[in-house]
Parts: sequence; C-alpha cells; structure tokens
Amino acid sequence: MRNEPIIEIRNLRRRFGPQQVLSGVDLDIAHGETLVIMGRSGCGKSVLLKHITGLFKPDEGRIFFEGEDITQFSRKKLFQMRMHFGMLFQGSALFDSMTVEENVALPLVKHSGKNEDEIRETVADKLRIVGLEGAQDRYPSELSGGMKKRVGLARAVVMDPKVVLYDEPTTGLDPIMSDVINNLIRDLQTGLNITSVVVTHDIGSAYKIATRLAMLHEGRIIYEGTPEEIRGTDNEIVRQFVEGRADGPIGAF
Ligand SMILES: Nc1ncnc2c1ncn2[C@@H]1O[C@H](COP(=O)(O)OP(=O)(O)O)[C@@H](O)[C@H]1O
Ligand SMILES: [Mg+2]
Repeated sequence: MRNEPIIEIRNLRRRFGPQQVLSGVDLDIAHGETLVIMGRSGCGKSVLLKHITGLFKPDEGRIFFEGEDITQFSRKKLFQMRMHFGMLFQGSALFDSMTVEENVALPLVKHSGKNEDEIRETVADKLRIVGLEGAQDRYPSELSGGMKKRVGLARAVVMDPKVVLYDEPTTGLDPIMSDVINNLIRDLQTGLNITSVVVTHDIGSAYKIATRLAMLHEGRIIYEGTPEEIRGTDNEIVRQFVEGRADGPIGAF
C-alpha cells in the first residue's frame, strides 16, 4: 500500500497568454516515493514543478504540502516551505564564479544558521555522497557535464530536504553518466528516505528510478502507474510515448 501523500495537486490550471499549459492537473505524491513525470518537450513539466515549489502561482487549483494549501501561503510561509525542498535544475544552474564548495554551501549560508566549520563538514559529507570527495576548490568551468550535475545534486540535498525535484536530470549526459546519476537518485531515495519527483522524457531512466510514473499530456495527468503497469498498459497515448513511435494518437508536431 502507498504511504500518505506529502503533496496533493488538485485541478491545477495555468495559462501563458493564449496558451493553456496546465488544464486541470490532479496528482498525489506519496511520502518516500520516486514519482517520474513524463511527457513531451514543451508539455508543461517544468511549469508544473515551478508550481509545486510556489515559484509560479496557478490561475486555478490547489496544491497541498503536508496538508496545507501553498497557493494561499504568504511570502514568508512559502520561503519556510522551500527549506524542505531541494531542486536540481535543468542545466545544473551553478555559479561559475564560485567554487564547488561555495556553490554547494550556498543554501546553508543563506538559511541554516550553521557556523563555518559545520558548513564545511556538511558540504564535504554531501560531496562524498555524490562521489566528488575533494572537489571543493574546483570551479564549474573545470568540470564535465556529469560532474556539474553531481554538484547540483549535492546542493539540492544539502539542507536535508523532505522532497527533491529533478528537472531532466539526465538530459545531455552520455548513457553511462546518466546511469551514475540515476543510481544516485535511487540511493538518495532509499538512504535518506527522500520523496523524489523527477521530470524526464528519458524512458530508460524513468523505468530505472521510478516507483511510480505519471504522464502529462495536453495539460493533464492522463495516466499513472507502476513501471510494471505501464509496460502492460493498453493506453495508446502512453504506449506511443514509451515506445517512441512517430505514428499514433499523439501528433508528431
Ligand atoms: N515564464 C513563461 N512565460 C511564458 N510561457 C512560458 C513560461 N514558462 C513556460 N512557458 C511555456 O509553457 C509551455 C511549457 O513549458 P515547459 O514547462 O518548460 O515544458 P517542458 O515540459 O518541456 O518542461 C511552453 O510552451 C513554454 O513556452
Ligand atoms: Mg522542462
């Protein structure tokens, strides 16, 4: 049986100008699960993540985090809520002028009240978890794409968040580095008991890490299931997507 939901999304609607991007998203995210949200490029996956962290406000609908409606939160309450969220952005989003240590330490310096020694120790601990022990003094420009992702991952978990959101964590990485990142995401979920929400269109990664998958299509969640259920589904839209076929109910353009 699944755990209690930590996040509940109800009838979430959001448009940009004439474009209705989210048109009634309903989704529960359970404590401790790794939920993969898949869908075509431009279907609104990143927009959905930004609503979950309160960076975007919906036109309509509700998002509950631990039972409280975050769409009604003050700036201060949103800020406090975000302490419980880690985010790995598309493209890692590291500061080029800062060392690895400074990049990873940033959330701690801003929000934790830890002293310098404690911060240094916490950063070293997280770098060890992502396999970058001793990389503290390097700069992002000296790192490969996979290493940057790992630094981003260390930063995403440095505050010991309850929920980590990953936006396309393996896009642009070679298959081997993708597997390294996928293993890390899995280890974090099991080791630190983090709830993970992963947005991707990389089906191989999705199957590898997901305890459950949801498909976003035309502004709604049209399917949810375990990897096993998805493999056996007769939903033609889902099948076309996971099999990567140009022909089917989803138009190719
Ligand atoms: N800040 C914004 N202003 C206007 N349009 C946006 C904004 N953010 C996203 N969009 C539009 O919303 C749609 C979904 O974008 P996005 O969530 O980034 O897609 P993806 O599923 O690839 O992550 C796109 O058509 C995009 O152009
Ligand atoms: Mg995106």
